[in-house]
Formats: sequence, C-alpha cells, structure tokens
Amino acid sequence: MKKLIVACFLTVMMASAHATPEQDRLALRAFFQERFPKLDLNEMINGLYAFDEGAREQWLEMEDFPPYEIAIEEGEEAFNKPFANGKTYADCFANGGMGVKQDFPYFDVGTGEIITMEYAINKCRTDNDEEPLPWLVGELAQIAAYMAYTSRGNKMNVVIPDDPRALAAYEAGKEYYYTRRGQLEFACENCHMQSAGMMLRADRLSGMLGQATHWPVYRSKWGEIGTIQKRFQECNSQVRAKPYEAQSQEYRQLEYFLSYMSNGMELNGPASRR
Ligand code: HEC
Repeated sequence: MKKLIVACFLTVMMASAHATPEQDRLALRAFFQERFPKLDLNEMINGLYAFDEGAREQWLEMEDFPPYEIAIEEGEEAFNKPFANGKTYADCFANGGMGVKQDFPYFDVGTGEIITMEYAINKCRTDNDEEPLPWLVGELAQIAAYMAYTSRGNKMNVVIPDDPRALAAYEAGKEYYYTRRGQLEFACENCHMQSAGMMLRADRLSGMLGQATHWPVYRSKWGEIGTIQKRFQECNSQVRAKPYEAQSQEYRQLEYFLSYMSNGMELNGPASRR
C-alpha cells in the first residue's frame, strides 16, 4: 500500500515537473497526510519526534534544560557587539534582525543570489570590513541561534518572486532533493519522503515537511550548535556522496527549496536533536 502511494506520488511529481512552487508545497502536504492520516502535520516541525513516541519523551526531557541555551546567550552577545567601525549586525537587517528568520532564504533581485541567514550574517561582516566567520559551527551558528530564537512562533514565509532566476533557483534546489547521488545512489527524498517515519539503523527518519523550521540545531553527536548546511553535508556523506561547500550555490538553492516547502509552519529554532 505504502509503495503504491509512493508510486502515485512520484508520477504526480513527474507529471508536474512544471508545477508551481505552491502546487509542489500542497502536494507535499497531501503526501504526508495520506501517509500518516492521524498525524497533525504541524508536528513535523519537530522532525523525527513527530513519529517516535519513545524518542519524543527523551527529547522533551532534554528540552527541559535546553542544550542550546548557552548558544543563544553567546549569540546575543556577539550580535550586539559593535564592529570596529561602530556599526552592528542590527544595521544590516530589517527590524534590526529581530524576528526575521521566516523570510530566509530570500532571492536578492540585485545580485540574483539566494541569501540564507548565515550568508547574510557574514555579508554583514565583510560589508563592514570584518573577517567572515566559519560557516558551520561556532560564532556564526550562535548568532543564527539567537536570531532564530527571536523569530520563534513566526510562520515560515519564503518568497519566490516573479523572476525567472528565482524560479530557476527553486527548481535547481528541487532537482537536487530528488536526484540520486553517492555510492549508495540515494536521493534526499528516498530517505525523507519514501522512508520517513521508518528506521535507518539506529535512527528514525524525519520527513521533508518541517525540516527547515528549527535551525540551527544543537546535536548531542556534534556537542555544539550547527547550521542546516552542516546537516546537508552529513546527509551527503551518509550516502558516500561528496558534500558541497557550505553556502555553495547548490546548497543555498537546496535550502531555498526546502524552506519553501515548510512555508506556513511555525518556526521553533534553535532545536535539539540526538
Ligand atoms: C540514507 C538516508 C538519508 C539520505 C539520503 C538523506 N538523509 Fe537527511 N537524515 C538522515 C538521517 C538518518 C537523519 C537523522 C534523523 C532525522 O532527523 O531524520 C537525517 C536528518 C536530516 C535533517 C535534520 C532533520 C531535523 O529535524 O533536524 C535534514 C534537514 C536532512 N536530513 C536533510 C537532508 C537532505 C537535504 C538530503 C539530501 C541531500 C538528505 N537529508 C539525505 C538520513 C538521510
């Protein structure tokens, strides 16, 4: 039965290669609702814990003393520390950078680039003659954690403007998600759609819907807070594919697509995961 639904869905996806992003998003929600009829789709912002009662209890216990709390504090301090020229991060963002995470990534009409929040943070630094920070963990991820924290409860609102370059970036991200790669020849969708809710060795697999709402994430395995693109690299490595550089065009496009799929869902970052 499950296989049949997947087959039907794939046919729909292929038939709708030229579906609009909004049609894609609604089809994705329908897919998960059909797969998990009793599931409140809003729960999928909590990743695998939407599907796994046992793991969910352990996670809720962890959330009693959130391991990302220090990162938020350190991020706040770093965010408010002026650059050598006296300017601050707040000067680079709408609303002083508070409660804006739902608008990322966005398409920059001027440059034609996809701008993720981390990309914008480092651009703010280099525009103010500061050295860029490493992309995946550390101060950049802490600042992102603080900014995500001020955006909690807002609904994801990624916009694809009426510009062929924006749509092309979205389509490239979508293609990435559905393309098999690595020695194991797995696409993102093989694990996070077809096998969502199932076990892969010791891990239960989360679903694509809601995967972008809660970053950055403190992972016990990392022992620190890290960005979504760190997770992309890890998922690439898992299937023995060569990961892309963090904030490469490919990963920014992937994040654009993935985030759009979570549009309308509540932001709940930073989060904790095993
Ligand atoms: C071989 C299976 C597999 C493939 C293929 C795979 N992943 Fe994952 N992914 C996992 C596992 C296992 C986890 C950890 C359990 C979980 O949270 O789903 C994970 C976690 C994630 C998470 C974090 C979810 C959360 O709630 O914190 C994201 C985001 C993610 N993967 C994105 C991707 C993307 C994008 C791709 C394609 C480049 C991909 N994955 C390909 C196995 C896979």
